[in-house]
Amino acid sequence: VLITCWSAKGGVGTTVVASTLALLLARQPGDSVLLVDLAGDVPAALGLSGALGPGVSGWLDAGPDVPADALARLAVPAAEGLEVLPRGDGPLDDLERVEVLAALLVQGSATVVVDAGLVGRSAESGAARILAGAADHSLLVLRPCFLGFQRAMAAPLRPSAAVLVSEPGRSLGVHDVEATLNVPVRAEVMVDPSIARAVDAGLLSSRLPRPLARSLAAAA
Ligand SMILES: Nc1ncnc2c1ncn2[C@@H]1O[C@H](COP(=O)(O)OP(=O)(O)OP(=O)(O)O)[C@@H](O)[C@H]1O
Ligand SMILES: [Mg+2]
Repeated sequence: VLITCWSAKGGVGTTVVASTLALLLARQPGDSVLLVDLAGDVPAALGLSGALGPGVSGWLDAGPDVPADALARLAVPAAEGLEVLPRGDGPLDDLERVEVLAALLVQGSATVVVDAGLVGRSAESGAARILAGAADHSLLVLRPCFLGFQRAMAAPLRPSAAVLVSEPGRSLGVHDVEATLNVPVRAEVMVDPSIARAVDAGLLSSRLPRPLARSLAAAA
């Protein structure tokens, strides 16, 4: 199963949602979970330290002669049942290889969660667009913000569902997302200072905040 989390407007909570979904799925019995980072913030959010290796960009760069088990060897252990495929430092601009990567991830036995980051119309979003397009679940993460809704409407792809990161006191809510974008909202995560503190301290994986786990449990 391939689940790609993406946003149409930056800074909305995509990395937090993708990392939390991966952690929750890893806690379920069954296949292992791979969290693929295209945006670069996952290791810091999960508090991973040490060398991360060549990651996705290194795999793309190695071209078609790369050994079959190379992807698995590039993954870094992050928690019980969870490995992270880091972004790597290089560009993600070889879109033919990204298509191959997407096919490998779809066919593999692991449950794969992708943090695709911001998906826009620029060339830099190419890899994210491909991994969102290939996903069984293409999850748009957004805030209850009119400007964000407009970006989502203008995005180059349609999500299969949305996760709303809500702030108290906003006039827009779940129904507005569903009515405007015509996609189901799978989860609503409240903005909570304990969540931001856990991210700041790199503690998402070791001390996943309760409210965050609770709001995404059903979606996972
Ligand atoms: N539910 C939440 N409650 C409180 N703070 C949150 C929540 N979700 C995310 N944040 C905070 O908001 C900021 C942005 O979150 P995050 O990095 O996950 O967004 P993003 O969409 O991945 O951003 P980018 O577009 O830069 O990749 C971070 O400081 C994070 O701690
Ligand atoms: Mg991010």
